[in-house]
Amino acid sequence: MIDRLASLYPQHLATVRERADKALALTGHDHLLIAAGLPPRKFLDDQDYPFVASPHFRHWLPLTDAPGSWIVHTPGQRPRLVFLQPRDYWHVVPEAPSGYWVEHFDIAVVRTVEEAVAQLPGAQTRRAVIAPDQPALAGIEAGHPQDVLDILHWHRSYKTPYELALMREASRIGARAHRAAEQAFRAGASELGIHQAYLAAAGAIDAELPYASIVALNQHGAVLHYTHFDHVAPDYHRSFLIDAGANACGYASDITRTYAGRGEDQFQSLIDSVEAAQLSFAAKVRAGQSYPELHIHAHHVLAGVLREHGFIRMEPESAVATGVTAAFFPHGLGHPIGLQVHDVAGFQQGERGGSIPRPAGHPYLRMTRTLEPGMVVTIEPGLYFIDMLLAELRERPVAKDIDWERVELFKPYGGIRIEDDVACTGGEPENLTRDAFAQA
Ligand code: GLY
Ligand code: MN
Ligand code: MN
Repeated sequence: MIDRLASLYPQHLATVRERADKALALTGHDHLLIAAGLPPRKFLDDQDYPFVASPHFRHWLPLTDAPGSWIVHTPGQRPRLVFLQPRDYWHVVPEAPSGYWVEHFDIAVVRTVEEAVAQLPGAQTRRAVIAPDQPALAGIEAGHPQDVLDILHWHRSYKTPYELALMREASRIGARAHRAAEQAFRAGASELGIHQAYLAAAGAIDAELPYASIVALNQHGAVLHYTHFDHVAPDYHRSFLIDAGANACGYASDITRTYAGRGEDQFQSLIDSVEAAQLSFAAKVRAGQSYPELHIHAHHVLAGVLREHGFIRMEPESAVATGVTAAFFPHGLGHPIGLQVHDVAGFQQGERGGSIPRPAGHPYLRMTRTLEPGMVVTIEPGLYFIDMLLAELRERPVAKDIDWERVELFKPYGGIRIEDDVACTGGEPENLTRDAFAQA
């Protein structure tokens, strides 16, 4: 793996440099300064929240534990890393840089945040700063010049072979951990116990995951962002929804699976239908496919699933048009993924910015672009039995075409979501998640 990354990295860095050159040239800057950032301090406390290096910083090099460090890019020169290694006997100090990427940087090791800032091209230069708004960054202007960001974000949509290699690795770690979580569920563990099994198999602590895991037993699956962990196992394991990812050098995977408990054949049959639909959507991750059209298509297919399983009696077209499917599938089909789990530029119109609106009536869709080779998106349809949304639906005229007894029967299962990360190529899609499960 390391050898492969080492061989792919020079081309990745060359691409990142070219993109930065272009962003600087088009916006009238001479230097790009990228802060890793610092861990945010808790209010009125001497404790920090976990540190997460800025995605812009992680785009340049696989260094995720470098608070206070900076990258300086000046076109035509080797990139510089100003690396903060404090004199500190209270905390673990970041190790001296090592690895396949080091030879591509000029590295200056500094001991304080102030010394790091002193190494940067000064305020009198035409510098573009990408840094979080943190007073502790020694007075440097917090910056995100939008014109620079627009160009960099646009190009981040197109993953390099090096990035795809890391995203495959993040998927492999995630698939291995999902297998362990399923075993813990089958063994009757609590949500907390399942979560611990997941972390152990991923070899990670919570703060190292790309997002807060959702580990939901039974009706908890109906809470879309259920990030609570019951410490006590329920009496009966009827169903299990887990949405949990992994991190490889700052790249994310985002994976959801839903399982039925033993003997829960009706629920398993619904899972099978959602999975068949999900695979058919993943197969459409092809160059030229409009993502919002795929999202609307998903509503029609899921309406068919609801009808086939006896929840609704109306035609799929009318279930979509009247918002019935939106009550059972109330989120978007997916989103771009990469350095951030919900990656940038999902709505961006072009390199210089602009925004493509969501289709009317679909307020939670996070991706309105047309797919192109190099993009990676999630495909995550779901069907849920959410009290609040069903109560609203019950008050409407369409309620007469819904089998409420059947709906009630399924409420204790919570819901279903199945989520894969899929790369668009020039030909067949590459399903990073399915490939990873096949190897796990
Ligand atoms: N885990 C967050 C999401 O699926 O978008
Ligand atoms: Mn997702
Ligand atoms: Mn997810």
